[in-house]
Amino acid sequence: MRADAAPFTDRIGILGAGRAGTALARAAATVGIPVNIASSRSPSQMKYHLAQYAPQATAVEAKDIGTGVSLVVLMVPQDDLDDVDVGSLAGLTLIDATNRWDDAPLPGWLEDGLAAGRSSSEVIAEHFHSSRLVKALNHISHWDLDSDSSTLQTQQRALALASDYKADAALVARLVSTLGFTPVLVGELAKGGLLEPEGEIFNQVLSPAQLRTLLHES
Ligand SMILES: NC(=O)c1ccc[n+]([C@@H]2O[C@H](COP(=O)([O-])OP(=O)(O)OC[C@H]3O[C@@H](n4cnc5c(N)ncnc54)[C@H](OP(=O)(O)O)[C@@H]3O)[C@@H](O)[C@H]2O)c1
Repeated sequence: MRADAAPFTDRIGILGAGRAGTALARAAATVGIPVNIASSRSPSQMKYHLAQYAPQATAVEAKDIGTGVSLVVLMVPQDDLDDVDVGSLAGLTLIDATNRWDDAPLPGWLEDGLAAGRSSSEVIAEHFHSSRLVKALNHISHWDLDSDSSTLQTQQRALALASDYKADAALVARLVSTLGFTPVLVGELAKGGLLEPEGEIFNQVLSPAQLRTLLHES
């Protein structure tokens, strides 16, 4: 992304209000990005949870997470993906920040896709076929998403993204940059496996140069 690109200021939606979702909401609030957030509970049921973990976020129903936002970040466990309404995310840029863990149960369509040798990013993109998917924000821990606890100075730390949609990848790169990290596009979604738990980038604190070297070697 160009260094002079405008900061990201649009409202975003975060689906999932657990460790990752609320950490992203706090990081967004720090840089002035407004957030709508939803979980499987209603806004009133989330009231005390959000007061503690994401006090500046606006709670909405999960079915409304795509309303009035320029993108949605998917931050629910993969085994819960069958409960996410695909139609409610239609036409949106969708950041897939989910991860596949060996021992976790999965929806049948995801198990089948993985058994066929595909990355979870590709199978999830197919499932959310009416959204434009960008794999990103999954390979950093919720601790490091909180902007004051990064292990490298935030502007040095690279965050990778992969997508088949250039304009959507550029939008997400602008969000990542505004959050204080350096976005590095690793390529099309087929490369998304590099960002996943078995991939070489996962949970690594890398500078942009280190990340590019690693991509070169893989
Ligand atoms: N933890 C991390 O450091 C980290 C970092 C990057 C990415 N991720 C990925 O982000 C995802 C969530 O991880 P987590 O650690 O935040 O999990 P978590 O703490 O267990 O939180 C999961 C959240 O998802 C919500 N949820 C479940 N089904 C939902 C649905 N159908 N619609 C809306 N919300 C739903 C839950 O809501 P209820 O509580 O109301 O059921 C809860 O708020 C995983 O795929 C994980 O791999 C995690």
